[in-house]
Amino acid sequence: MQLLDGRKLAEEIKKEIADEVSAFKATGGKTPHLAAILVGHDAASESYVAGKVKACAEVGIRSTLIRFEENIEENILIEKITEINENNDIDGLIVQLPLPGHISENRIIETIAVNKDVDGFHPVNIGRMVIGMPCYISATPAGILEILRRYNIRTEGKLCVVVGRSNIVGKPVSILLSQKGYPGNATVTLCHSKTINLKEIASKADILIAAMGQPGFIKADMVKEGAVVIDVGITRIKSDKTKSGWKLTGDVQFDEVAPKCSYITPVPGGVGLLTVVSLLKNTLLAAKKSIYN
Ligand code: GUN
Repeated sequence: MQLLDGRKLAEEIKKEIADEVSAFKATGGKTPHLAAILVGHDAASESYVAGKVKACAEVGIRSTLIRFEENIEENILIEKITEINENNDIDGLIVQLPLPGHISENRIIETIAVNKDVDGFHPVNIGRMVIGMPCYISATPAGILEILRRYNIRTEGKLCVVVGRSNIVGKPVSILLSQKGYPGNATVTLCHSKTINLKEIASKADILIAAMGQPGFIKADMVKEGAVVIDVGITRIKSDKTKSGWKLTGDVQFDEVAPKCSYITPVPGGVGLLTVVSLLKNTLLAAKKSIYN
């Protein structure tokens, strides 16, 4: 079993991005600038956004964090997004999800300018991704592809089972892995909460992607001997063993599944770190106007 080391990969890629940012600036390019909107004080969202802001600083990308209280009205948020859309100094904009229940996430996502949507959540970017046009690919699916690519894991002709059909992970990664090219050309099955015989399907997978957000759901008897297992789950659960009082837990029972795998991502230290790196890459692409003028 080989560990797919997200920490090592993320450091390696951040160095590459930092070099590219420096080269871009040295040839007259602007400092890439990411704006992040955070609504409320959800502990997980606070920590993800703090990670994004820190990673920006590490590679020479400027970031601006805009905070709103939980009870912000939707139209105020829309006004702020519209203002950022029109601000030429800001290259990329993300709104951290989830949003409070009184705000329509779809309306917010559709308000973000397509050329600043570095999360790749806008329907135009998703549509372009589906038909293989240049677009911002959302960060977690892009991070998963990056792991497969950097570890030279073969995907062509492989049976890939994705568990979880979220708009930001399960659906896009299943489309990307079935597309022509590398990493791609896989035969993909997308499973979800209504799937019958999940165990039987999952245990046939050459590549198993667990993305349903249910800690420890994937057990050893759901995994084929020699499978590649990518664990996208990052749920915070209470722990009396850590100083903070919580720990991050994946969707895979790591201890019992790892011995069966050819490769596996740990949690923490796996996909999550690559997600942040993919956001940095998209922000640099936005500053370079590589995808949209
Ligand atoms: N919530 C969970 N993952 C993400 C992400 O990648 N981007 C944003 N904006 N919100 C999230």
